[in-house]
Amino acid sequence: MRVSIYVPKSGMLSLLNKSCYWECLLPSVAGVSGRRIIVGVSGGIAAYKSAELVRRLRQSDADVRVVMTPAATEFITPLTMQALSGNPVHTNLLDTSAEAAMGHIELARWAEAVLVAPASANFLARITYGLADDLLTTLCLATEAPLFVAPAMNRVMWQHPATQHNCLTLQQRNVTLLGPAEGEQACGEVGAGRMLQAEELLIAMAAHWRHGPLAACQVLVTAGPTREAIDPVRYISNHSSGKMGYAVAAAAAAAGAKVLLVTGPTNLSCPDGVKCIPVDSAAQMAEVVKTNVSQSQILISAAAVADYRPVVVQDRKMKKSSPELNLQLERTEDIIALVASSKDSPFVVGFAAETDNLESYALEKLQRKGLDMIAANLVGEDMGFNKDDNALTVLWQDGKHEIERADKSIVARELIALIAERYHAKSTS
Ligand code: PMT
Repeated sequence: MRVSIYVPKSGMLSLLNKSCYWECLLPSVAGVSGRRIIVGVSGGIAAYKSAELVRRLRQSDADVRVVMTPAATEFITPLTMQALSGNPVHTNLLDTSAEAAMGHIELARWAEAVLVAPASANFLARITYGLADDLLTTLCLATEAPLFVAPAMNRVMWQHPATQHNCLTLQQRNVTLLGPAEGEQACGEVGAGRMLQAEELLIAMAAHWRHGPLAACQVLVTAGPTREAIDPVRYISNHSSGKMGYAVAAAAAAAGAKVLLVTGPTNLSCPDGVKCIPVDSAAQMAEVVKTNVSQSQILISAAAVADYRPVVVQDRKMKKSSPELNLQLERTEDIIALVASSKDSPFVVGFAAETDNLESYALEKLQRKGLDMIAANLVGEDMGFNKDDNALTVLWQDGKHEIERADKSIVARELIALIAERYHAKSTS
């Protein structure tokens, strides 16, 4: 017996959780925008996380109604959930005033999706057996909307054959299990049973409504420059603004993909529906790409990754003691060449930034790095870096396509359409 669950890659989240600076960058998740979602909360310590879930759903423009079991109200107050959802909270099946405002059948019909987070072992058992002894379980029976559950419980309770059997039965009825994740638990034990983070739940739900030529894909995009430290105040970098890579990430999300954007330092905000991971150096970018690439079907590398970095990084600011300074540099790892040469490589699209011999240099890079496609652009006085527009010559083994100079968002959409076409052609050949 095997219960298959949605568990996102942990590296991504551990980076996301690192600082509140990051919190501010969290984008709204486009896939849930305008959707009518019931958040069910059952009794468990993870109920506190459902407050953040409701906040993020609202931030992403979802219309949210919260339904709590009596046990859930012992962990978090309906008032908190009311303030965050902007709607009255439903707690009682037999409350005449609540039923008069929006009865449980009306609520069940209203929902486009029901997400129960946390879903306790007791709640999972009750819906498995079709019990309707409180408002939340009644709703789960009465709704035709897709049901998502985010289990959260002690690891032994999760592994118990009864819980596993219930989850398997629910999956056979098309209930989607989101998590649980592994890690340290409120009870002090370590193992599977933690509720997924709000962000992970949002992205999993958004996937349910995704449409477009890349709907079934995860696309990893790199953008911006990297900075290679010389000492604590100086670095080697380039003029990349990130505009091209961010436009590519936004276009991939609009084409239905789940998009992860690994970005060097820029002044841009993370596009809607895209998860951003900021990095500084080429080595950090390589690390994050390597951690996440196995889950991606397509890698698009628009980042201007430094080719060299100082061999020694001084730990104190260097003094201007001599008229000349010689820095010894070493090559950075070629990220896309490494990914393209790996077993089970995704579809790899590189960019080539050239000041001359655009096509021949780009073709040489396509072949040397073993890429599926390369998008070549001229960089220089009036082109490429930090401009709002761009033009691309896109090359692959036996083909070529010119994308005329236009705003980077338009160029990116045409490029994504071409990538989707070539990617599907390769996967069906
Ligand atoms: O950011 P903007 O201001 O909008 O500018 C956009 C851009 C000009 C930066 C962009 O369109 C672009 O061309 N990006 C690639 C720049 C670059 O590094 O090109 P390259 O020819 O040096 O590298 C070829 C490919 O190898 C690129 O896909 C690059 O991401 C990748 N690479 C390079 C070095 C390295 N160590 N690892 C890599 O993966």
